[in-house]
Amino acid sequence: MTAIKIGVITVSDTASVDAAADRSGPTIQEIVRKRGHGCVRSIILPDDEQRIRETVKNWCSESAVDWIISTGGTGFGVRDRTPEAISPLLEREAPGIIHLLLSESLKHTPLAALSRPVAGTIGNTLIVTLPGSVKAVKENLEALFSNGFIEHAIDLIR
Ligand code: MTE
Repeated sequence: MTAIKIGVITVSDTASVDAAADRSGPTIQEIVRKRGHGCVRSIILPDDEQRIRETVKNWCSESAVDWIISTGGTGFGVRDRTPEAISPLLEREAPGIIHLLLSESLKHTPLAALSRPVAGTIGNTLIVTLPGSVKAVKENLEALFSNGFIEHAIDLIR
């Protein structure tokens, strides 16, 4: 398959004022590059529903990316609003991806039950929300890249 064009959204109040605090965004970029794909967009946003939604809408309407990966803001904290920002935009939900992420993550930590991931498609773009820690990002991407799963998913929506 041709390389997947990826957009990474880091959602973190802390990293939005100090980019050096963002370790999960760069981790995603490094992992996808090693897999032969390209990170063509990246942004750090505070836990602000409106701004997250606007970014996703813009990237999708420009057809800029095949796959949007967000990191952070999926937990139970009162400021964690990433799922609420993205859910209303999804044209088709992908509960199987959520099942995959949670079942694999629960093998690593029971705290995975505190993550509230959403996944689905908007036009020809897939969007998946990952938790904020580097550890969680690595574990979740390992699950998504296993067995050529993500490449197959992107092929089906192109
Ligand atoms: N998933 C995996 N695979 N590994 C982890 O270490 N950490 C959990 C969970 N999911 C974790 C995980 C923790 S501690 C939290 S609080 C939630 O993800 C939500 O994280 P977020 O609010 O940073 O998105």
